[in-house]
Amino acid sequence: MTSTDLVELAKRRGYFFQSAGAYGGVSGFYTYGPQGATLKQNVENSWRERFQVREGHREIDAPTVMPEPVFEASGHLDTFDDMLVECPECGESHRADHLVEDNTDIEEAESIPIEEVEDLIAEHDLKCPNCGTELGGVSVEDFNLMFETNIGPGSSSPGYLRPETAQGIFVEFPQLAEYARNQLPFGITQIGKAYRNEISPRKSIVRVREFTQAELEHFIDPTEDEPDIERVADVELKLYPAEEQEKEDGEYVYRTVAEAVEEGLVHEWVAYYLGVGKQWYESIGVDMDRFRFRQHLSGELAHYAADCWDAESEVDGDWIEITGYAYRSDYDLSKHDEYSDDDFTVFKQYDEPKVVERATVDPDMSYLGPEFGGEAGDVAAELEKLAERDRAAFEGDEVTVEVEGEERTIPTEKTGFGVEEVKETGEHIMPHVVEPSIGIDRVIYTVLDHAYEDDVVEGEERSYLSLEPEVAPTFVGVFPLVNKEGMDDRARGIADDLRAEGFDVTYDDSGSIGRRYRRQDEVGTPFCVTVDDETADTVTLRERDSTEQVRVPTEDLPDLLADLREGETTFAELDAAAPEQ
Ligand code: GLY
Repeated sequence: MTSTDLVELAKRRGYFFQSAGAYGGVSGFYTYGPQGATLKQNVENSWRERFQVREGHREIDAPTVMPEPVFEASGHLDTFDDMLVECPECGESHRADHLVEDNTDIEEAESIPIEEVEDLIAEHDLKCPNCGTELGGVSVEDFNLMFETNIGPGSSSPGYLRPETAQGIFVEFPQLAEYARNQLPFGITQIGKAYRNEISPRKSIVRVREFTQAELEHFIDPTEDEPDIERVADVELKLYPAEEQEKEDGEYVYRTVAEAVEEGLVHEWVAYYLGVGKQWYESIGVDMDRFRFRQHLSGELAHYAADCWDAESEVDGDWIEITGYAYRSDYDLSKHDEYSDDDFTVFKQYDEPKVVERATVDPDMSYLGPEFGGEAGDVAAELEKLAERDRAAFEGDEVTVEVEGEERTIPTEKTGFGVEEVKETGEHIMPHVVEPSIGIDRVIYTVLDHAYEDDVVEGEERSYLSLEPEVAPTFVGVFPLVNKEGMDDRARGIADDLRAEGFDVTYDDSGSIGRRYRRQDEVGTPFCVTVDDETADTVTLRERDSTEQVRVPTEDLPDLLADLREGETTFAELDAAAPEQ
């Protein structure tokens, strides 16, 4: 299926469509329709169940607007850029790296320095896709992707729509660590909207300006904490390491999670979550033949990442990132620790107190005061820091420190330098972070694309969405065979009863029964119930993918459907157990 087919089906069947169409629409903003919004909720709940509940993590819900200092500290203000080239003729904006990727054999042009991208545009005679003007010689600029706003009236308090939900977790770390009683490891999740002012949104919900992220920040002590690899040890991974991508004939590497860790192919914490992720994608219907984990090339790594593997799915001939598994080390917490007034470390208690040597200073202020005036306090503070990091600096007759960029020299005898033995009960450490960051919209796009099937039923072509029952927005369609003889009342009663049991039900009594089946097939409803018997005690249960039908007692329906939804039984088993007709 092409992306156009998917977008048309999505619109026709209420999955998603460009928003504000009545006003011409606006690129990069999509509305989920009645089916799509439920599919999204089901995918999100399934993510919660796998990445949060089963892993013992907790969720928070932070604001989507955050003040500028947060993004100064996080590095997004300085470095969260894409490469922009503007057509000098028609004024259309393009992502320079995408132009290169779309028109040459080069992949991952994002990892190429901006000047080289400019050269590539000229070398390959790349033209504006809108008006055909040559773009060689046009300068490529960094374009910051954050949406800016003002908090309150006036412009004195700039803020930004969050470009990732993660910062809402990092800035609250002091409160979250207290909640976790300073005990590492612990994980915090967040799901919600994030915003990026994409230069050229594309592929419908794949590259949008407002999207949903589901992120987990797992805070660990890097010197002690290890993941429980056993839980996912045997999960098979299809890996595309950076080294293989750089070879001309690079190949996928197939390893279990345990093997990938043992061979040092993937960082153990990242590998653990690749295993969890693989299980989850499979459970929601991502086709594993069109799926891989690809390591970032070094030039492609986000400013905060020490290493990163993307889960990628193949849709319409392209590989798209659906999740980033980043090892963020202590980058974010260190930055917030440095830029804010709060402490972003945790106090790690030793099993037994330790006696350690500590270098201290006790500067002679009667010397520092007259010598350095108002700077005397700063000089004393710098001496203390120097003693902590470099005792050897106090071995000579004089010690030099820097205050406000100026060197200050003090006779060592005036610093009161000494080394003492102290008992320490613990130490402050900066946790490291491992982050699975899931793009929910891209997962949904993948699930729909991979679920799309064509076949021929009774001589008639059919297209259907083979969605997993766990995520299908409508679980069961209920129809009366004919709209009379009491069948309609019975069918309505069954629909009501099933809704009361928590099933998502569509009732449909219009058109031929074949047409009603096709409608539900196209929307991805796994089962249909047809009231086609004049007696009150049985109905026909039909399965979407096989189109097989089985007659079942009406009173058994809720339990049977629950078993089918939970995977406790399969339709084939039900069919085999049914009495011969
Ligand atoms: N938090 C990772 C990302 O937004 O890409």
